[in-house]
Amino acid sequence: MMNVPVRIRLMAGYAGALFCFVLVLTACGGSPQPSQPAQVAPPPPAKDARYLRGEDTYKTKCAVCHRVNQKLVGPALAGVRERYAGEEQWLFAYIRNAPQMIKEGDPKAVALFEEYNKALMTAYPDLTDAEIADLLYYIEEATE
Ligand code: HEC
Repeated sequence: MMNVPVRIRLMAGYAGALFCFVLVLTACGGSPQPSQPAQVAPPPPAKDARYLRGEDTYKTKCAVCHRVNQKLVGPALAGVRERYAGEEQWLFAYIRNAPQMIKEGDPKAVALFEEYNKALMTAYPDLTDAEIADLLYYIEEATE
């Protein structure tokens, strides 16, 4: 061994180690990564035609006074179909013309009318059964 001071030999050792380290890093990290497929969020569940038709009628005719999950001028409509299970005819007639049923003294219609501070629902005599069925379908499916 030549007469090289210990500190210089140590420094040379460190430099060598550092060099090797850098070499390993570039060898591993330098190669291009295979491109990853773009992460795309899954699409929301498809809204079928009935839903869209029901939503359209609901937004233009009912949403002024109703929310699905919240009381507004009128009751929250979520679960309305189950509330009137076995009384579909009544429910359809009521949606079509609640004021008339109140006028005729239908006990359920009158009770609702009293409960909701005698606020009157608009009459929709032109709503067809199919349109009301779509509306109820939308109300069941909507998560607004
Ligand atoms: C002008 C406000 C208004 C509009 C518009 C309206 N409603 Fe109502 N609705 C009410 C009120 C108020 C009540 C509570 C009964 C009453 O006071 O006559 C009610 C009650 C109901 C009920 C009975 C709910 C229960 O829990 O018993 C149903 C069903 C209903 N509405 C459906 C509809 C549908 C469907 C539409 C759209 C086609 C609609 N309403 C439009 C105000 C409205």
